[in-house]
Amino acid sequence: MELIINSPLDMHLHLRDADMLNKVAPLSSHSFAGAIIMPNLAPPITSLQALKEYKKRVQESIADDRFEPLMTLFFRNDYDFAFLQEAKRHISAIKLYPTGITTNSEGGVKSMDIEDLRQTFEAMSELGIPLLVHGETNGFVMDREKEFGSVYEQFAKNFPKLKIVMEHITTKHSVDLLDRYENLYATITLHHLHITLDDVAGGMLNPHLFCKPIAKRPQDKEALLRVALSANPKVMFGSDSAPHPRDKKESCGCAAGVFTAPIALQALAALFEKHGVLQNLQPFVSDNARAIYYFEPIKKEVILEKKPFFVPSSYRGVVPMFANSTLDWSIKNIT
Ligand code: DOR
Ligand code: ZN
Repeated sequence: MELIINSPLDMHLHLRDADMLNKVAPLSSHSFAGAIIMPNLAPPITSLQALKEYKKRVQESIADDRFEPLMTLFFRNDYDFAFLQEAKRHISAIKLYPTGITTNSEGGVKSMDIEDLRQTFEAMSELGIPLLVHGETNGFVMDREKEFGSVYEQFAKNFPKLKIVMEHITTKHSVDLLDRYENLYATITLHHLHITLDDVAGGMLNPHLFCKPIAKRPQDKEALLRVALSANPKVMFGSDSAPHPRDKKESCGCAAGVFTAPIALQALAALFEKHGVLQNLQPFVSDNARAIYYFEPIKKEVILEKKPFFVPSSYRGVVPMFANSTLDWSIKNIT
């Protein structure tokens, strides 16, 4: 059995910088036609100069692969209209992090008061720049995303022309918000379609599945599966593939992030086939994103086939999800 995916897109990807960038970027550019590149470097990308230089390093790291890095800025509420008008030519979106909520987010937003954000949100609305949000409060870890729901509602109601993407949603509550606000969209990761908190901490602690937001309850996973597998047009695949060196994961003070880039398409094919909806993988990994971002990707055909694929124990020192196990689908060819 084979499946052709046209121009798969990863709408939430961490590529890092320097050595790590050179290690991991080719693993995405090999099989994806493009990706939204997260700006949470240290320091984060907040100037156009830094953004252009980072984009150049990303392009160098992928050599001749046909892959478009869709760049993002790290949100600050002092971005004004003139700056954003210039930025629009270089970016696909702006990513907002609450301060300290995850890796390299110390420079994030301190107050979610819409009056503090109004100037920038209005300029983004007018210029048609999507707002991507890491939606967690600093409350109890299992409730953080749900607590942030009222912030999403405030944003959506007060800025109806702003396209807001709830990144890496993990709860039924977030899924339900999609139906309530026209301008709310979401990305969903591979790992949150597979795991619950039990897989992270219910038995022996699995640091390679520890991420932010943390995986939630079975009913949350079911809600995510429902919208992803039905290729609801408001959801897109965003891996949130977040590489950390093995020693930063297998350690006291484990870094948050699941590394899925090199195995994502194979695992998604297996998941969609298991649920009898292989035909919905194309919209989930590409078409929905094109429609939401008004974007025509580089042409790339990925032929997947139902043939065992053994996931290695690591990709140059970075441990992937499903390490040392066999997936039912593999990549046959890319043209
Ligand atoms: O698990 C995560 N890792 N969640 C994030 O939001 C950031 C990411 C990272 O950059 O490591
Ligand atoms: Zn992320």
